[in-house]
This record gives sequence, C-alpha cells and structure tokens, in this order.
Amino acid sequence: MEVVREDIIIIGGGMAGLRAAIAAAEHNSTLSVALVSKLYPLRSHSVAAEGGTGAVLDPKDSYDLHAFDTVKGSDYLADQDAVEKFVRIVPEQIYTTDHWGCPWSRNADGMISQRDFGGMSFPRATFAADKTGFHVMQTLFSRCQKYDRIHFYNEFFVTSLIVDGGSFNALTAIHMKTGELTVFQGKSLIFAAGGAGRLYKFSTYSHSVTGDGDAIAFRAGLPLKDMEFVQFHPTGMIPSGILITEAARSEGGYLVNGEGKRFMQNYAPTRLEKAPRDIVSRAMMWEIEAGRGVKGKYGDVVYINLDLRHIADLLEERLPMITDIAKKFNDIDAATEMIPVRPATHYTMGGISVGINTETEIGGIFGAGENVAISIHGANRLGSNSTNECLAFGNVAGIMAADWASSHSIPALNLEKVKSEERNIWDNLLKREGGENPWDIADNLQEMMDSYVGVFRTEQGLLSALKGIRDIEARYKNISISDKSSKFNIDLTHAIEIGFMIDLADTIIRGAINRKESRGSHFRKDFPERDDVNFLKHTVARFSADGTRFEYTPVVITKWKPAPRVY
Ligand code: FUM
Repeated sequence: MEVVREDIIIIGGGMAGLRAAIAAAEHNSTLSVALVSKLYPLRSHSVAAEGGTGAVLDPKDSYDLHAFDTVKGSDYLADQDAVEKFVRIVPEQIYTTDHWGCPWSRNADGMISQRDFGGMSFPRATFAADKTGFHVMQTLFSRCQKYDRIHFYNEFFVTSLIVDGGSFNALTAIHMKTGELTVFQGKSLIFAAGGAGRLYKFSTYSHSVTGDGDAIAFRAGLPLKDMEFVQFHPTGMIPSGILITEAARSEGGYLVNGEGKRFMQNYAPTRLEKAPRDIVSRAMMWEIEAGRGVKGKYGDVVYINLDLRHIADLLEERLPMITDIAKKFNDIDAATEMIPVRPATHYTMGGISVGINTETEIGGIFGAGENVAISIHGANRLGSNSTNECLAFGNVAGIMAADWASSHSIPALNLEKVKSEERNIWDNLLKREGGENPWDIADNLQEMMDSYVGVFRTEQGLLSALKGIRDIEARYKNISISDKSSKFNIDLTHAIEIGFMIDLADTIIRGAINRKESRGSHFRKDFPERDDVNFLKHTVARFSADGTRFEYTPVVITKWKPAPRVY
C-alpha cells in the first residue's frame, strides 16, 4: 500500500477540480496539490458541456437580473445569499479564462458573444460554439501545466473518505494501473467529483458519472442536500441520450409534436422553447402522454422532434458539434431533417451540503461544482449556470483549501480504517464467488429510476421504486465479480460504483416520497402545486447505521419572496 501525502487533495479532474487546483496553486506558491481522478482530466464529463456559461458582461444586464432569473428558475429553493455571491464572482472567470486562451466565440466587433438560454431574461450565455466544455477544459488543463506543484493522479479510483476525530484523515483509492490500494493524505480536501446522473439509463451523462463523490462523502458523515431534484434536459437525442444543446433552441430551433405542430405556446406562452428545462421537459411528456408524440424508426420509443431546418445557415458557425453528432450517430442532416429527442437526465441539483464559501461541516473539507449543493440551483438549474458555477466556486474552494492547508498539518493516518477498507474491497467484494453479475443490477437500477423517479412522479410509483431499491440492495450484497485480476479491473470499480448509486438512489427516492408538493424538477402528479407553507425548505439526508435520517433546513431569502413561476 502506497501513501501519498500532499498539502491539498482534490477529488475530481473536471472543470471545478481543475479550476480549484489552479486557484490553490496561485493563492499560495508553497503548497502542493494532488488532483485525484478516476479518468484522465480531459476525459471528464465536463468536456461534454455544450451550450454556454452565463455571466453578466453587458452593461445593460445586471447582477440582480441574473440572480433573480436563477432564483425564479430554482422555483425559489435556491439560497439567495449564495446566488447573489455567485452572479458577482462569475464574470471575472470569463475574462480570466479568456486571458488564459479560451476561444470564447466573438461578435464582429471583437466582444465576447452571448446567447439566450432557457429562463434567462437577458442573453448572457458566453460560449465557444457548442463545444464550451471542451474549450474551457483544454484551457484549464493547459494552465495547470504551468504549476509543477499540481500533481495529477490519473486513473485512481477513490473508494472511501476516512474521517477521524471529526477531521479529514485520508482518501483510499485503487490505482487502476497496478490494482494497488493507494492512500491520499492532505491538510485539506476538495470534493469536485461531479454529479450522479447515471443512476438513470436515458441520460446525457458520460457513463463515468456515478455519484462517487456524493456517496463517499455521505458514507463518511457529510450530509447530502436536496437529492430528490434531478434535472431532465429536454433534448437528449434518441436513442443514445447524447445531448443536443439547449442552444439549438436559443438560436431559434422549435419543438414539434407528432401532429407536426409546435406546442410550447400552451405551456410557456412568453418563453416558448426557451422556458426553463423542467417546464419544457414536462411539456414534452404531457404531449407524449396525450398521444401527440412521434413514433418513427426508433422502435417503441415515442419522442418529440427538434426542428432546426429554418436555421440551417447558423449550424456550421453556432452549432457545429450537434450537427456532427446528429449526422454521425443518427445519420440525420440537421439542415434538412428533424432530430428525435426526449427528456434525459442531465444534472443533479442535490449534492454535498456546503456553505456559501464551499465549506462542508467538516473543517478542512470543501466542495465545488455538481458534486455539491451550495445551493444556487434549488429545485431546478437554469441552462448555462453550471460551467460558471464550476469556475466561480472552484476558484473559491481552491483558495479556501489553500488557506486551511497553510495553517494545518497532515494528521496521523488511521491505519485501522484503511485496513478495513482494504478488506471490504479485496475480501468482501473481489474474492466472493458464485453471486449475481453486478452489471445486471445496474441495468435494473437505471430502468427503475427511469420508470418511477422521472419527470413525473407519484406516491405509488415512488413506493414501487423504494421496494425496488430494497430488493436491489439485497441482491447487491450477493454479487460476485468475474474478473479477478488486479490491473484495470473495471468489473471491480463498476461494482463499487453500483454500491454508490444504490445509496444515492435511496436518498433520491425517499426525499421524493417525503416532498409532497411539486417544485422545479420534482413534479408529483398527486401533488401538482408548489406548497411554500410546508415545503419551502431544503431536504438534508444524513447517513446513519440504522438508515438515512432526513432533516429539513430553511431556505435563505434575501430579496425575492416566492411568487408564481410563470414564463
Ligand atoms: O444544453 C446545454 O448546452 C447545456 C447547458 C447546461 O447544462 O448548462
């Protein structure tokens, strides 16, 4: 067993993690940073971000407007102090990444272009064509190379967080290349391991997004906040789920039902296709449920068409990637044919509960990006409010972790807990014989989440999901892994991921059962109205040996009292 000791440990090599690493290295030139990732950073899901990064750059725009849009978009569940901070710290990140070489798309006058996005009342999404994540990630990764104190530990699969005496003690990880257990110790830790959307099958997420960061933190005692809020992006392409950016609609694309008609005027008369995602996704599902979906060459799947034919002249400059994706994956020429789409999981609003400065309940542990709920998105995130969050709060987390590290030391390793984790992996999991194949369990879990915990939810469906998760949990206790080798054992790491996914599915399902109202992405057909009297509060899930405990905490309201959410 190898023990790696660095001043600051970051789990996750995506946008928040890279931004945090740079911030830490720049804030204190004496500290070393370990960036621990189960992938190579440029294979992180952040690279798949497409349409844009919201920021107030235009003098006609304002922080209050961006904040209000975000709060209204969140269905008033966002903490408004966090939102007010967020909108103010984003713009400098656009200019900083611009100076570092990010090729933000430009207007003819050389100014950074901005486009409209769902639920935003001003065109404030900066973008690099429809490859925003790719370009921002290249920029951040290149910038990291400037600091020889940022050390990349790629393809280290983190299995657990060890907390000792209420403080960060260590991370345990499998080094994929050797199969050895590696322990990471530091003075401070940043969670930046992304979301949990692969709990669902039809998803815009990479297959790597299995909620590892959330589950590891949860099991070690950090609470998860608002897990029942899972975002469905309206335009996951059939049948793969690959994202067709919302920018396609902000550039003028239409949604068309099986009767060949636009329908958003019946659901969001002012914003139409540019309403927030929860509203557009529901509208599509209502159309499908009313028998107005499209049935075509994709088997039994009923879908909606995305029509870009009237904006064919924009495709090459503004939407080259989705044009390419439609062609390569579906043999569709977006200039002359419509793209088949359906709502697909895209974002988890919930995550590790952190304060306005990215701090968790445990001193020295911070978090940023989709891994955490800060909470600026509340019940529904607006498009273009994710990459900016990664940049802005990644920066804050890096500075906070550096400050902590400069006045604390690395604790003595709790070897007993490390040994116990080692036994869990090698003896309890890898050596077990004759059990069920974990990949089947993952399939069942995802199908169940798609069926019962989707865009529309009901008590009956959620109770079926709860029963289903108990069954899956029991089956998981009896899995066995057929590949017994040590190097690059994907069977083993996926089995561990499935364990994470089961824990998180449980918090989502139970949070959704408890929330007997509809708010943002959480729509209960049996409780279709928002209920501010009883549910204007955050759900906080805490791990305990006797099962998860649910608590509720108030929402911070500064300027904007809850009001009807009409678009
Ligand atoms: O549709 C999109 O381009 C996604 C953007 C986002 O999730 O912020």
